Amino acid sequence: MKVVVLGAAGGIGQALGLLLKTELPAGTELALYDIAPVTPGVAADLSHIPTPVKVEGFSGEDPSPALVNADIVLISAGMARKPGMDRSDLFNINAGIVENLVSACADNCPKAMIGIITNPVNTTVAIAAEVLKNKGVYDASRLFGITTLDVIRSSTFVAEIYDKDPRDVSVPVIGGHSGITILPLLSQSGYEFSDEDAAAMTKRIQNAGTEVVEAKAGGGSATLSMGQAAAKFGLSLVRALNGEKDVVECTYVEGSGDLARFFAQPVLLGKNGVEKILDYGNLSEFEQATLNDALETLRSDIKIGEDFVN
Ligand code: 2OP
Repeated sequence: MKVVVLGAAGGIGQALGLLLKTELPAGTELALYDIAPVTPGVAADLSHIPTPVKVEGFSGEDPSPALVNADIVLISAGMARKPGMDRSDLFNINAGIVENLVSACADNCPKAMIGIITNPVNTTVAIAAEVLKNKGVYDASRLFGITTLDVIRSSTFVAEIYDKDPRDVSVPVIGGHSGITILPLLSQSGYEFSDEDAAAMTKRIQNAGTEVVEAKAGGGSATLSMGQAAAKFGLSLVRALNGEKDVVECTYVEGSGDLARFFAQPVLLGKNGVEKILDYGNLSEFEQATLNDALETLRSDIKIGEDFVN
C-alpha cells in the first residue's frame, strides 16, 4: 500500500505526515510531495521515527515521481485563510493548484483514491471530478472531499457541554464543508438539544474553522486538528482497502444527486472506495430547514468548480 500526501510541507501536510508515519500499518509506503524544497527534509525528519513505514520526500514543480503506484492520495496543498476571509476567497489560488495536482494523479495513478482537503472543498472536489472526467479516468467512488474535521469538532463540542469523553460522542455531519453547508445532525448524537441549543451548537460547529483562523491572527487556519481529521479519514480508507468491513466515514462524494451533485453523508468504504452511500436518517425540523437553506449555496459552490474546468 502506498499513501501520498500532496502539500506535505504545509501546516496540515506536516501534521498529517507525522500521524501517518506513526499510525499506518507496517509495510506501508508514505510519499511526501510539496513544491517547497524543504520536503525531502521533512521526509528525512519523519524517517527517524521508529515505525515500519518507509517515507520518501519529493519537491519541485512536478509531483509525478511521488505519485507512481499510489493507492491513496491526500491533497492538502494550497493557501490557508487569513482573518476576514471565507473559504471561497481561496478559490483563485487553490483552484489551479488542485487542477494541476489532480491532473498529475490522472496521469500517474488513475486508480488511486483521492481525498481532497484543499479549500474550498465544496468547489475543489468538483474541479477534481471534472479534471478526471476530461482525462477519461473519473470514478465517483474514488474521489472524496474530506469533511472529517466537522465530525471531530462536533464530537468535541458536544462532549464539552455534556462533560463526556469526546471519543464516546459521535455526530454525523452532512452537506458540505463551509459555513451554512456544514450540517451536524445533533438529533442523532444521543443527546437532547432544544431548537435554540441546536441552533447555537450548529453555528459553533459551522464557525469553528473561523474560530481558529481568528485565534491564529493571520498565522493561518486549522492545521493540527485538520491533520488529525485527514489522518483519521486516510487510515479508514487504508483499512477499507485492506478488506476491513464496516468502515464508515462521513465524506463529501458524488451520489444520487437528489440534493446536490456532491454531498457529504455517511459512506461505507470498501476495496473500491465508496461501497455504499448510506441513508443519513431522519432530520429534525430544525435540521431540515437548515439543509433547505444550504442547498442553493452548495449547488452554486459546485457549479463554480465545474465552470472553472470547463
Ligand atoms: C477548517 O475547517 C481548514 O477548512 C478547514 O478549519
